[in-house]
Amino acid sequence: MIKTKDFVLRSITLSKKDIQGYLECHLDKDAQRNFTNAPRTLTEAKSEIKKNMILPHYLAVEIDGRFAGFVHLELNKNPKYKHSAVIGFGLHKDFRGRGLGTKVVKTATNYGFRKLKLVRISGLCRPFNKASIRVLEKSGYKLEGVLKKSKFINGKYLDDMIWAKVR
Ligand SMILES: CC(C)(COP(=O)(O)OP(=O)(O)OC[C@H]1O[C@@H](n2cnc3c(N)ncnc32)[C@H](O)[C@@H]1OP(=O)(O)O)[C@@H](O)C(=O)NCCC(=O)NCCS
Repeated sequence: MIKTKDFVLRSITLSKKDIQGYLECHLDKDAQRNFTNAPRTLTEAKSEIKKNMILPHYLAVEIDGRFAGFVHLELNKNPKYKHSAVIGFGLHKDFRGRGLGTKVVKTATNYGFRKLKLVRISGLCRPFNKASIRVLEKSGYKLEGVLKKSKFINGKYLDDMIWAKVR
C-alpha cells in the first residue's frame, strides 16, 4: 500500500466497491475510446479484476473511501525483460481534471524505479488522448514513436503512441 496526501494506492479486490468502481472508470465516452478492453457490465468488470488481481502491482486508487481509479505496472517474467514494465492507468470521471492522474502516474513510476528497481517503464496511448499525453509528459516519459495501425477496433485501424521513461 502506498499512502500520499491525496490518495491511497492499494491492491484491487473483488469487493462490490472495487467491481462497481472499476466498471464506472470504463463507462464514459472518453474511457471507451481510450481503452482497448473496456468492461461494459459488472460481470465483465469482475472477470477483468479476477484476471488482473494476480498481478502483483495492479492497484486501486482510493480517495476518501471511494474507488477513484486504478494504476498498474505490468512486469515481464522473461529474465531478459524483467528490468522493464508497462504502465496503465485510468480515473473515475468524478476525479478527473484536477491533477490527480499526474500524481498517480508519478507515484506509481517512482515506486517502479525506487522499490521495484525497474530500469524502463513504458506506456501506450492513443494520439487523440490529450489528457494521457500530458500526464505522461509531466511524469517524465518521452515519446519513442508511433505504432501505426497498431489495433483494429470497430472497423478502424488505430495508431498507438509509445512513451517510456528510463533511468
Ligand atoms: C488520462 C487521465 C488519467 C488523466 O487524469 P487527470 O487527473 O484528468 O489529469 P490531470 O488533471 O493530471 O491533467 C493532466 C494534464 O492533462 C490536461 N488535460 C486533462 N484533461 C484533458 C482533456 N480532456 N483534454 C485535454 N487536456 C486535458 C490537463 O490540463 C493537464 O495538463 P496541463 O498541466 O498542461 O494543464 C484521465 O483523463 C482518464 O482517466 N481518462 C480516461 C482513461 C484514460 O484515457 N486512461 C489512459 C489510457 S492511456
